[in-house]
Amino acid sequence: MDKPMVDNIVEAGARGEAELTSVRSLKQLEAWRIAHLGKKSMLMESLRGLARLSLEERKQVGARANEVKGLLEAGYKEKLDRLKETEFAAAVASQSLDVTLPGHPVALGRLHPTTQAVNEVCQVFVTMGFEVIEGPEVESEYYNFEALNIPRDHPARDMWATLWVDQPGLEGGQRALLRTHTSPMQIRTMETRRPPVRVVVPGKVYRYEATDATHEWMFHQVEGLAIDTNITFADLKGTLYEFARRLFGADRKARFRCDYFPFVEPGVEMAVDCFVCKGAGCRLCKDTGWIEILGAGMVHPEVLRRMGCDPDVYSGFAFGMGVERIPMLRYGIEDIRLFYGNDLRFLGRF
Ligand code: FA5
Repeated sequence: MDKPMVDNIVEAGARGEAELTSVRSLKQLEAWRIAHLGKKSMLMESLRGLARLSLEERKQVGARANEVKGLLEAGYKEKLDRLKETEFAAAVASQSLDVTLPGHPVALGRLHPTTQAVNEVCQVFVTMGFEVIEGPEVESEYYNFEALNIPRDHPARDMWATLWVDQPGLEGGQRALLRTHTSPMQIRTMETRRPPVRVVVPGKVYRYEATDATHEWMFHQVEGLAIDTNITFADLKGTLYEFARRLFGADRKARFRCDYFPFVEPGVEMAVDCFVCKGAGCRLCKDTGWIEILGAGMVHPEVLRRMGCDPDVYSGFAFGMGVERIPMLRYGIEDIRLFYGNDLRFLGRF
């Protein structure tokens, strides 16, 4: 046997095995494969003189070379499997999802507290047989004032400081305004309906006045109107007491006092005992113990006539409530201006 050739083969095998132990990555392994099993590897180079050997020697040297090659290939295969496994485990560890991490909060939208209150108020009246309708926010002076017994020079106009709208061309030289209350819908409703009528009208109203804890320049009202034969003041009180009982609970107190509105006779205001101080007096109720939530009364005979209803045959009651005052009373909100300040820390609580 050709000793130097065999020595080279053994040396190539030993080197290959030694270097394989320091291979740490698939990239290094590929370089190792080319260096020790490739065409130009030491093993292949050491077989270069094979042709000049005798047949017997060729067989022996060839067998030795195959043995070394087989060992190197087996070592390669084993290392390849191990490295693939380690690299896969590393990739999984770096990309995996930690299910114990807290999630991102999902921002949920919700109805504005005023919208919730409008819906609730309307729902109470719907169960009492009222229908819900809506009307325009830009009104004419006629519906907002004149048809409600408040002519141009009437001092009662001062009760509703008005935001006028520059909108020429209204019928009869009428001026346009942002409605100061929802009462114009009493007249509009009766233009298209005949008694018996029972409607509630939710909507925005506007007043040119300074704001404070209980007054906004834009707020919401729900108007109510019931016209039929034989409607009495007892119906008005019964309906509004029942409304207060359902919305605020049986143990809250409600109070009626005389008030003046040119379109009702007699007129009243209804107040509920203050949620914050339970009647003792505080900033919210201006030390009175009561918070006024609505104005009401029996529809004035003059207004009934304007509605096309004979006051000797028909009668009716009407009311107009401030919607924001309802969540204020229920949740003890001390300032109405919070509703439209758009602070999500406040709005998110409802
Ligand atoms: C009226 O607006 C009458 N139209 C109510 C009415 C209707 C009387 C039908 C008779 C028959 P008043 O201006 O008082 O009335 O307002 C009614 C309610 O709206 C008040 O009781 C109060 O709860 C609320 N309110 C009044 N002004 C403001 C304001 N600036 N900010 C918030 N709420 C208000």
